[in-house]
Amino acid sequence: MCGIVGYTGFRLAVPVLLDALANLEYRGYDSAGIAVVECGKLKIFKKTGKINNLKELLKNKILSSSCGIGHTRWATHGVPEERNAHPHINDDCSFAIVHNGIIENYDLLKKKLNNQFFRSQTDTEVVAHLLNKQLLNKALTETNILKSLKLVCDDLKGSFAFAIVFNKFKDKIFVAKRSSPLIIGVGKNENFIASDIPAILKWTNKVIDLKDNEFGIISAQKVEIFDCNLKIKKFKIREENIKAEQIILNGFDCFMHKEIEQGAEAIQETANKVFNNTLLEQLVNKKQNINKIHICACGTALHAGLIAKFLIEKYCRKDVIIDFASEFRYKNPIINSNSLCLFISQSGETADTIAGLELAKSKGAFCIAITNVLGSRITQIADFVIPTFAGPEIAVASTKAYVAQISALLGFTKFLFKKEDIEIDYNLQDIYNICDWWKNTNFDEVILKVVKMIKDLDSVFFIGRSVDYYVAQEAALKLKEITYIHCEAFAGGELKHGSLALINDKSVVIVILTQSEILEKTLNAIHEIKSRGAKIVMFSQFLQLKDFADLFVRLPNKNQNLMPLVCAKPLQTLAYLTSKTKGFDPDKPRNLAKSVTVE
Ligand code: G6P
Repeated sequence: MCGIVGYTGFRLAVPVLLDALANLEYRGYDSAGIAVVECGKLKIFKKTGKINNLKELLKNKILSSSCGIGHTRWATHGVPEERNAHPHINDDCSFAIVHNGIIENYDLLKKKLNNQFFRSQTDTEVVAHLLNKQLLNKALTETNILKSLKLVCDDLKGSFAFAIVFNKFKDKIFVAKRSSPLIIGVGKNENFIASDIPAILKWTNKVIDLKDNEFGIISAQKVEIFDCNLKIKKFKIREENIKAEQIILNGFDCFMHKEIEQGAEAIQETANKVFNNTLLEQLVNKKQNINKIHICACGTALHAGLIAKFLIEKYCRKDVIIDFASEFRYKNPIINSNSLCLFISQSGETADTIAGLELAKSKGAFCIAITNVLGSRITQIADFVIPTFAGPEIAVASTKAYVAQISALLGFTKFLFKKEDIEIDYNLQDIYNICDWWKNTNFDEVILKVVKMIKDLDSVFFIGRSVDYYVAQEAALKLKEITYIHCEAFAGGELKHGSLALINDKSVVIVILTQSEILEKTLNAIHEIKSRGAKIVMFSQFLQLKDFADLFVRLPNKNQNLMPLVCAKPLQTLAYLTSKTKGFDPDKPRNLAKSVTVE
């Protein structure tokens, strides 16, 4: 949610900043801006919309600066207009600041700044003026800047990663961080800062993870990190494994398409690692006192959690309580040292999920994180981490990370109840079979027929029972977020208690039916729908049901527990192809961002 970048070195700063920002665009694309230090002055450029608009603005500008900062925005405070775009400046434009995060007490702080004139409606501009106030009548030295910045940060509530450039320092970037991510990319005679690795991978894979309440001064030749008392600190440089080619399209029309295709690798790689994770096995053996399991996540990650709920309840006969992280954190959950809490997050940064994790830890629960980003905030707080191996996911709508999460949860469930007298009837080989099928199957032809049926509708309904209902919820979310069609998933048996009133002869209802136990019951719902004249699209492996559907999408007959994985490919393809057919960019849905680092 918002991405920040910075560069100082021997190259021209503007193209580096623009390139870096383009690779962070998944974090927000309401507006973008840069500030560069040019001959003792700050030059600021801002534009609403995507980075391309900013690129266009800068196309014919000659700027020799080799130091600057940039920002791509997902609007929180203030409409997505140029005046609210970052960087923000102090009154005499002697410094410029970019911010990722949210200042919760900005209104109170703003009131304290009495007669101050504000150019924007943002929380960040308040920080600029507060820093200006602290620096008044002080010599502009590095020490004074750090001290002033610390005093400002001490007064802030909320989350932030700041990068600041001053007109007096032609090659220095000052940074501070709390709860929002910030990495420093280390190069030769050049250094970078960014919210996330993809921004800098083109130039370096050597990374320093700035920790909460740390400060830094980054110049072309030197990186200095300071602790919360402004004492200089030693730091570790790590090498990032992600390769630059993993974050380019490589011939695909968009990242979502590429990432759906990469689903098989994500499932396989993750299953391989989790099913063979001896540490996880030892851990589960030690945790026999667990009497309650909670799952907490947001968005698609929550839907992966629902599949785990199905599996764990089926095989261990223990209740699994699942909550949106945004609800969990405020409902005073009943948890203690005998609770096992699972937090699922692709990015490992989602603010609500992190807050839920912190809460569960404070109540003594044993907390496991399932995440795709090692080193992310969630991995620093959880007691145990189960990584997924989906590789970097760029499209806002999660696809390969979702199936990797299910894959990890299938492995986790196997370990969790190994000692119990219950036989779990799926194995690694079953998962490999699905991966082979995934790689060799293309649903485009049949899915384009579904697209034709739904593309101009105002609403599309999904139904399913048991685990199929969970699959339906994810399918509805995926379709609505990138096509802007209202989509809703219903539990098959619940239709007649209200939602059936929405169905008429123009409706299309998508039925997910993969579980033999609920086959007949779901057929009842289909009859109810058909008698109201609606059309049925059925995703199922049960060929004998073909005639009940207006359009039948045939699924392979795999282990029933693994059918949520199987369903993911055609249902993700449905969302992607509908979005493309309607002329939208599936990678960057309106109003959304990939990493939701604010509440
Ligand atoms: C955003 C993304 C979703 C994602 C959710 C949770 O809303 O658009 O795709 O499922 O956040 O993100 P996380 O990184 O915690 O899995």
